Amino acid sequence: MIEKEPAQQRIHELRTEIERHNRLYYLDASPEITDREYDRLLDELDQLEKQFPELGSPTSPTQRVGGAPLDGFKSVRHAQPMMSLSNTYSKEELIEFDRRIQKLIPEESFRYILEPKIDGVAISLRYENGELIQALTRGDGTTGDDVTANVRTIKSIPLRLADMMPPAVLEVRGEIYMDTKGFSKLNQDRQDAGLEPFANPRNACAGSLKLLDSREVAKRPLDAIFYATGELDGIFFDTHEQMLQTLRSYGLRITPNYWKENSVEDLLERLDELESMRHEFPFEMDGGVIKINERRLYEPLGYTAKSPRWAVAYKYEPEQAETTLRAISIQVGRTGVLTPVAELEPVQLAGTTVRRATLHNEDEIRRKDIKIGDRVIVEKAGEIIPAVVRVVTEKRNGSEHEFSMPSACPVCGSDVEKREGEVALRCINLQCPAQVKNWLTHFASRGAMDINGLGESLVEQLVDSGLVKNPAELYSLTKAEVLGLERMGEKSADNLIKGIEESKSRPFERVLMGLGIRHIGKGAAIILANEFGNIDALMNAEVSRLESIRDIGPIVAQSVVDYFRNPDALAVIESLRRTGVAVEKKTSGGSSELEGLTFVLTGSMETMTREDAGEKIRARGGKVSSSVSKNTSYLVAGESAGSKLEKAEKLGVTILDEEQFIALLGSEQKREDQRAGQMGFNF
Ligand code: IVH
Repeated sequence: MIEKEPAQQRIHELRTEIERHNRLYYLDASPEITDREYDRLLDELDQLEKQFPELGSPTSPTQRVGGAPLDGFKSVRHAQPMMSLSNTYSKEELIEFDRRIQKLIPEESFRYILEPKIDGVAISLRYENGELIQALTRGDGTTGDDVTANVRTIKSIPLRLADMMPPAVLEVRGEIYMDTKGFSKLNQDRQDAGLEPFANPRNACAGSLKLLDSREVAKRPLDAIFYATGELDGIFFDTHEQMLQTLRSYGLRITPNYWKENSVEDLLERLDELESMRHEFPFEMDGGVIKINERRLYEPLGYTAKSPRWAVAYKYEPEQAETTLRAISIQVGRTGVLTPVAELEPVQLAGTTVRRATLHNEDEIRRKDIKIGDRVIVEKAGEIIPAVVRVVTEKRNGSEHEFSMPSACPVCGSDVEKREGEVALRCINLQCPAQVKNWLTHFASRGAMDINGLGESLVEQLVDSGLVKNPAELYSLTKAEVLGLERMGEKSADNLIKGIEESKSRPFERVLMGLGIRHIGKGAAIILANEFGNIDALMNAEVSRLESIRDIGPIVAQSVVDYFRNPDALAVIESLRRTGVAVEKKTSGGSSELEGLTFVLTGSMETMTREDAGEKIRARGGKVSSSVSKNTSYLVAGESAGSKLEKAEKLGVTILDEEQFIALLGSEQKREDQRAGQMGFNF
């Protein structure tokens, strides 16, 4: 047991070190350690803080996972109002802006700074003596919502400034955004789950910040860039550039590019350059922001009711094109969701030819009053799939007609249903060829069972010929059957059969991933495999048990439980089990079967000492910790276990008694015993 003083010292070291690694990762994009090593540092800190709760701190790097849901957000007055920017839409207006300034301060010389205008949600962070104490949204400019708990979960935002002598008060203002790639993925997941997708990254970002459960926010791909200040005490900046560089040195992220220009003419040229870079930024950029660099000129120039006179936004036209909606087709996804897709007259947009655009769901089609034959405006932003923004109703000639979603699945003809709380229609038939094809492709994919030789077109043939209706049936395919498929040669058939056979040796987590449980990607599959060890334990897990696992949220937990309620899914799992596919974590051979698991031992055991038990765990790659936290995988409770048992119960940690623990050590243990020529266990 570590003493308090060295613990305090180590906590301090760990926090400083983790913060440094955060900056290396998020600001410099040049990490020095692996994710695993990083997690190890974080784990060590977490354990120490659990052991000495009095040494905990709200700005510790462990405090980013989110906390208990709030009832609502507190309204808080801004120390200084949060202003907006006036907009310009043309170069003439910008020249006019420059003329006004020259007139207001004719004697002064100054420079302009040009920055990208980030299309996100404005935020104001307050650091007192270097510690993040508050995050407010703009609200009406005078009062905003206190979203501190949510903002804490954004990993690139420092909870402490990287400075030994931070200012007494530093309010920084900036933009929270969702990066375009993360947005696409989030929307795809939502669509698969039958939920309403977000219209654009800004809405997704705003929606995420307004979630009352910060643990959910922690899972959203949010980031932030800072570009202005509010109240300051104990610090002063001559120029905007100096301010930006200081923020950067504190570990706050600033814009990846900015330009300093002497004249409005130079500025206009730069604006074109910035526009040409529009899609290179990881965020949506809807224009440029022009600011005077010399901050001493802010006061003399002053403010209008809503915005400063020393800055202006220059907005780009959104990238849109007009075309004809020829038809609406329906795609059926892996989870059976029916998605309407706009089939468009091909049109050039942002350098690519657009032929299709997503229409998301029927509600969306109604809301936008989209009819087949309409002239429509399509828009593409960043890397996002083009979307139909609106109908050019003036161009209707009466030949357009309404679209309605089919009442049967277009692929298999089965009924479709709308689940409670969802907007999407789903095909109810799990054997629907569209679903089966998607499922098989996923099952065979590299991240899952990695079946060599089984790609999309072969999956298509196998399903269409009726040979395979689910992943388990792959394992009973014969070479003769495969040879019966069109364009199938001897060698390919051999390869396929071999690939399928080899996939039986994939570890349990790959099998779990291949099952195609909604929301279970590689990461979640590994966590679940480690946590439960076998499919039966996972099948019997309740939502509360699943939710108690680190990184498993309520949506994932519910999705796991729903999956195992489905008798068809259970039948497939039983068949997979019979074919010899791994339905449990490997416990033989290696010495790493407990890898990734953390044990806490408490109370006294009959057959072994705690030291012996610890050794056995470590010998199998597991970790032993002295205190219970939500990261604890198992609490092994012997006789007269005390407060640790209570705590484990409260946190929903799996509790093992001596017998269960011995069973977990499992076959490896038995083998040791056989070698020793003993019956039973002798510790
Ligand atoms: S400066 C006092 N710089 O755009 C004015 N704003 O349309 C402080 N925005 O309210 C704002 N990128 O939410 C500034 N580089 C940037 C920006 C930026 C995006 C947002 C900000 C502002 C809004 C005005």
